[in-house]
Amino acid sequence: MALDFLSEPAVTVLGMRPHVVAHLAVSVDGATTGFAVDLARFYALATLWQEDVTLVGSDTILAQEPALISAPQPGPRQEGPLLAVVDGRARVREWDRLRRLGHWSDVLALYADQSPARPPDSATAELVTGYEHVDLAEVLEKLAARRDAQVVRVDSGGTLVGVLLELGLVDEVSLLVHPVVVGAGRRWFGAFGGRLGLRHANTEVFEGGVVWMRYCTA
Ligand SMILES: NC(=O)c1ccc[n+]([C@@H]2O[C@H](COP(=O)([O-])OP(=O)(O)OC[C@H]3O[C@@H](n4cnc5c(N)ncnc54)[C@H](OP(=O)(O)O)[C@@H]3O)[C@@H](O)[C@H]2O)c1
Repeated sequence: MALDFLSEPAVTVLGMRPHVVAHLAVSVDGATTGFAVDLARFYALATLWQEDVTLVGSDTILAQEPALISAPQPGPRQEGPLLAVVDGRARVREWDRLRRLGHWSDVLALYADQSPARPPDSATAELVTGYEHVDLAEVLEKLAARRDAQVVRVDSGGTLVGVLLELGLVDEVSLLVHPVVVGAGRRWFGAFGGRLGLRHANTEVFEGGVVWMRYCTA
């Protein structure tokens, strides 16, 4: 029986949402795939935010599911963030393995009204918002109200970041730019077609020519 995230007691403060940071490894031409990512540096830098929630796109999780089968399973990390996966089409299967991976304290499936039925024996906590798609603004409000989430780090190949940008829900953009041009491929801003002013916050250059650029939105 799936646990209902909403049934947890809490005081709801409408309109409040956490600080949202999108941290991505990109090529010089903004692609998120098709090149070798400096993963050690990427994840070392990701610890900077000490996020309360890691918000991940389902396609990012699905890309990792084969590797999860053989990954060590030390168990949930009590002090770790919550892993929340936007899974409107209910495609993610390896919830237990994700929970026991040793990175997160727990997992939360984010579904919409129209999401396919989940297995009846599912023990994964879930939050249902939106009709066809997960309502990301409502999710963030509920995470603030129900989990006191103050910082959310988005892990996505760009699609989810693009939707969040369209909705004006990204506060900080962190790009780890790798010295390569890959041509075709998904960009870090997804299908975002608007114009977004950015305020430079910091730049660092690392060995090997990898450049870390941080910007605040608005
Ligand atoms: N370079 C990097 O930093 C980096 C980081 C992470 C991943 N990756 C790579 O990037 C690839 C996956 O990234 P991706 O960009 O394809 O996908 P993604 O961002 O991981 O997943 C797409 C997400 O967007 C959601 N979405 C789409 N439209 C929406 C809407 N209108 N409202 C709400 N949610 C919506 C989808 O929900 P549904 O589930 O409902 O469709 C899904 O959760 C993988 O190859 C992965 O290895 C790279």
